[in-house]
Amino acid sequence: MAKAPTAVADMTFLDLEDSVAPAEKVQAREKVVNAIRTQDWGDRVLCVRINAWDSAWTYGDVIDVVGRAGERLDEVMLPKVQSAAEVVALDLLLTQVERQVGLPVGHVGIEAQIETARGLINVDEICAASPRLETIIFGPADFAASLEMPVLTGGVAIPEYPGDHFNYVFSRILVAGRANGLQVIDGPFLKVRELDELRSFAQRTRVLGYDGKWALTPDQALVLNEIYSPTQEQFDRAWDILEAYRVATEERGTGAVMFGDEMIDEASRKMAMKFVTRGERAGRRRSPR
Ligand code: GLV
Ligand code: MG
Repeated sequence: MAKAPTAVADMTFLDLEDSVAPAEKVQAREKVVNAIRTQDWGDRVLCVRINAWDSAWTYGDVIDVVGRAGERLDEVMLPKVQSAAEVVALDLLLTQVERQVGLPVGHVGIEAQIETARGLINVDEICAASPRLETIIFGPADFAASLEMPVLTGGVAIPEYPGDHFNYVFSRILVAGRANGLQVIDGPFLKVRELDELRSFAQRTRVLGYDGKWALTPDQALVLNEIYSPTQEQFDRAWDILEAYRVATEERGTGAVMFGDEMIDEASRKMAMKFVTRGERAGRRRSPR
């Protein structure tokens, strides 16, 4: 937890779930509350992963942690979400805790992890279950276990498989998330020392349109920031598309215009906008011409 604020990441979550042993679950809450209240988290989104509803700890995690963390806690993450009702239950509980401790109702957002077969079947309803939902996340390790796949490491390439064994799952979650205006995030890559393998594996969800991926270490975060941010060349091109389109629509009154050898229109503006907003967040500026 002490190292977490030093990682260059847009978001950090402190875990109460699978990285905490059952005997430590209750004491861990205190440590998490303390870290939230006393460490300097900068402008990152700050989240706590609570335990899933199939455990004994979910309600206690919310009451103890959200009830004492104060307003710096932005979100809670709910793992192993199987149905929309689980998100609704969390939403209701958060509302009571917020009222009790004087936080604005709706202050705490929800991130939901899809990591079971049933969760994937219900992903559409899950993504529409609460206005608190901000992000939907794929959890490859639990998902591989839930599907009983013959692997011992979740979320890595399987060379024997002719293609991407998770392509359907990635796409399914992406569509459900986007249909409900959510951010969509890929889960962990467990081989923490294999940064080149991470780089190549992360391309799968980046190319599909995911917003980012979990990092388990500060080194993974550096690789992922690079992969999920537009290159300078992409940023400059997107910036120029926006400018050419603005001139066309506002100054010349046309809807479609040539940009080099390509026709651009309103759809091009939407595509370019994503690159520009992401690029600006990553600190990019239009290079001098
Ligand atoms: C993450 O929680 C995973 O199970 O991959
Ligand atoms: Mg998991």
